[in-house]
Amino acid sequence: MFKALVLEQEDKKTLAGIRQLETSDLPEGDVLIDVDYSSLNYKDGLAITGKGRIVRQFPMVPGIDLTGTVAESSDDRYKAGDKVVLTGWGVGEGHWGGMAEKARLNADWLVPLPQKFDGKQAMMIGTAGLTAMLCVQAIVDADVKPEDGEILVTGASGGVGSVAVTLLSQLGYKVAAVTGRAEVNGELLKKLGATTIIERSVFEEPARPLDKQLWAGAIDTVGSKVLAKVLSQINYNGAVAICGLAGGFDLPTTVMPFILRNVRLQGVDSVMCPFEKRQQAWQRLSELLPASYFEQACREVALEEVAECAEAITNGQITGRVVIKL
Ligand SMILES: NC(=O)c1ccc[n+]([C@@H]2O[C@H](COP(=O)([O-])OP(=O)(O)OC[C@H]3O[C@@H](n4cnc5c(N)ncnc54)[C@H](OP(=O)(O)O)[C@@H]3O)[C@@H](O)[C@H]2O)c1
Repeated sequence: MFKALVLEQEDKKTLAGIRQLETSDLPEGDVLIDVDYSSLNYKDGLAITGKGRIVRQFPMVPGIDLTGTVAESSDDRYKAGDKVVLTGWGVGEGHWGGMAEKARLNADWLVPLPQKFDGKQAMMIGTAGLTAMLCVQAIVDADVKPEDGEILVTGASGGVGSVAVTLLSQLGYKVAAVTGRAEVNGELLKKLGATTIIERSVFEEPARPLDKQLWAGAIDTVGSKVLAKVLSQINYNGAVAICGLAGGFDLPTTVMPFILRNVRLQGVDSVMCPFEKRQQAWQRLSELLPASYFEQACREVALEEVAECAEAITNGQITGRVVIKL
């Protein structure tokens, strides 16, 4: 028997409760994992509170991220005792996820945990950190170099944004951080490596098709009018990596930055990211993230506290990371 957070639905309401399950209850998969840690993402908050349509079938064990130790494997790539990390692939949405003491998963979804990280550190990085790394890699792959100019990061104090600021700075880029909470987070963003802090309101004014060229590249987690403004200010031949919609999923822009300034727009998805790219990204994270990253606020909670934290994260009341110890 093992303990799990289980989501059920009654009269279209999502109910979250702790249940004792048996290994035979777990869904099919090649690898049985003793879960060490999961983490609480905004998406998990939406799933657990039922505020967002994240869960595709009930009952569901939430948790889009997990780290753990292989207990049994019928796949040659993994053996008992191996440490692994999982993010995405619809786990915690359509396949039972990380908020349980055991999980059974498809071997194709797993990545060996880089030696430098322990389970808790990997969950402090989680989906948000992996996505940030993929965005940074997109800027590097677009051949935008530190000497070309500053890189703008929007939603800078969020999970993705704060790791993106850290990684860019570690790679020698000058980083301008756009945030709606400059007063609260400005100092922290500077500590992570931002050289310039810009109030989000500056980027919420309507964008002209083309504005003054100010940035060699950008990582955008916000979308909508903020992204439109960003695009209008990108230098000739610059590149923008986008992964999020914190400000909205529309994009009120024009073709002008693309056809007159050769600006390139690269979408970034971490959920279905193929194994090789995923493994390389985890490797790069282990090389680039400084020890100071792990000094940020991180609350370690038990399964019993998750429902309350899920409500808080959907109300914007959580600062820093929340990891769940199994
Ligand atoms: N494509 C993928 O694979 C993938 C993976 C992970 C996440 N995402 C998406 O990426 C985005 C960021 O994720 P996250 O984990 O970093 O989320 P997060 O921790 O909630 O951070 C989002 C940040 O965006 C800013 N923001 C919030 N509301 C805003 C608004 N109404 N208008 C403008 N800015 C706003 C805030 O930063 P400031 O206070 O600093 O302004 C906030 O901290 C989300 O939309 C998420 O769904 C995508």
